[in-house]
Amino acid sequence: MSTTARAVGAWAGEPAAFRSRRAGGVVTRVMFLAAFASACHDPDPADTDRSSDDSADDSADAPADTAPVDVPGPLLTSPAEAADGDPAAGAFLTELRPAPATFTVDGVAVDGYAYNGQVPGPTLRVALGDTVTTVLQNDLAAATTVHWHGMQVPEAMDGAGWVDGGVLPGAAFTYTFTADAPGTFWYHPHLDVGAQVDGGLYGVVVVEDPAAPAVDRDLVLVFDAWGEHDDGAPGLDAEADDHHALTNPARTRWTVNGLVGARFEAVGGERIRVRTLNASNSSYLALAWPDMRHIGSDQGLFGAPEAPDYVVLAPGDRAEFEWDIGPDGFDVTTLPWVASAGAAVGDPRTLLTVEVPAPAPAPTPMAWPSATTAVSADPARTDLVYVFQGGGAGDWLINGEAWPDVTRHTAALDADTVIEVRNLSATNHPFHLHGQRFEVLSVDDVAPPARRVEDTVDVGIRQRVRLLLHAENPGDWLLHCHLLGHEEGGMMTVLRVE
Ligand code: C2O
Ligand code: CU
Repeated sequence: MSTTARAVGAWAGEPAAFRSRRAGGVVTRVMFLAAFASACHDPDPADTDRSSDDSADDSADAPADTAPVDVPGPLLTSPAEAADGDPAAGAFLTELRPAPATFTVDGVAVDGYAYNGQVPGPTLRVALGDTVTTVLQNDLAAATTVHWHGMQVPEAMDGAGWVDGGVLPGAAFTYTFTADAPGTFWYHPHLDVGAQVDGGLYGVVVVEDPAAPAVDRDLVLVFDAWGEHDDGAPGLDAEADDHHALTNPARTRWTVNGLVGARFEAVGGERIRVRTLNASNSSYLALAWPDMRHIGSDQGLFGAPEAPDYVVLAPGDRAEFEWDIGPDGFDVTTLPWVASAGAAVGDPRTLLTVEVPAPAPAPTPMAWPSATTAVSADPARTDLVYVFQGGGAGDWLINGEAWPDVTRHTAALDADTVIEVRNLSATNHPFHLHGQRFEVLSVDDVAPPARRVEDTVDVGIRQRVRLLLHAENPGDWLLHCHLLGHEEGGMMTVLRVE
């Protein structure tokens, strides 16, 4: 299909100009790492190798005062969308084919995986109320599933994999459910996640609300992080086995829709709805650009836009923004931020450059009217407590238990359940519950400024987060930390809704 070809081209057909630009990027990066040299007790052979590899085919070993050649980076677009194979109104039909794939990140080869030949996988853009049918054809050598992160799908369609063992190599499975709420969601396997998700198997689901305000463009930005192999092997790894990614953001190479150093061409005067996803397995983003307008999170639009200085996106999190494009471009950056500390040492890093070749005055920011803005009152009782603990040499634990030897708690269907999540460990954990959406009542007893409905919420070190779950979806639902190494290390349990 043409959509597939285009996306693969972004990986395989990188222009020579991009390679030149990366030469500059390598110089910058080596200098940046040098700033860490005194703090880092663990000199990295892979890094040394990479520097010399690069200097063999470009000028990375030029004196540091030589200005990098300013060649434009690759042009970014939203990930190609899945075609709707069902002409009937209200029905969306598509196929997802995960398979091994080799692609490059920042010019370095990665042996990973792709859905339909593209990383990120195709965006499923559907309308609120659609019946969504997806045929998974497993072309991997291992069992896989498709989990619909953030969507209230029936239990049998959740792709959690822990009961049935998933879809075997060569086999197919048809997922079908109703898109019952608007927002920005995502899909990914739920077996062998450290290899499969981390290796490139993820994509976005946009559920459009016909009542939402119209914009000129809708842009999907999927962020992922890649790291060097710990053992110094050539090529890049998804950062699963790169413990540095948790503590040293300089070791992480971020891609945006698969690209490093990309630019996006905006049009002066246009209004863009920007949907962001952190698909990485363990790396945090603290997104920042001038005059941020944060309009929504996991479960759709806020009651009113907010104007933060930056927005932290934990692995699994989504955030939505409004860009009112004026005469000037700007950089999308991430502030240094790590799971083990929050704000970290280093300079902001540019992830994407927004250019405005045809400047014009910016449109007036929109109100994004929405019905509910008030935070629910805390019922002042606690029904369920989940305590995150562990790490170091041992397992990652919830309430002292490691998956699969866990206690299954119950939440009542169609009733309010107050969940308190306490983090007693030395790193943040993004709390995620399958098949439900919940409201954040408070973080360390402070209520959010306005109603926030989420399916993934980051719980900081020593924090206590209170959540209100009005469970609407019966079944046995996984509840886990979305740092995939922690999930695989035991930090997962099951909540029954009945
Ligand atoms: Cu994003 Cu258990 O999943
Ligand atoms: Cu965790």
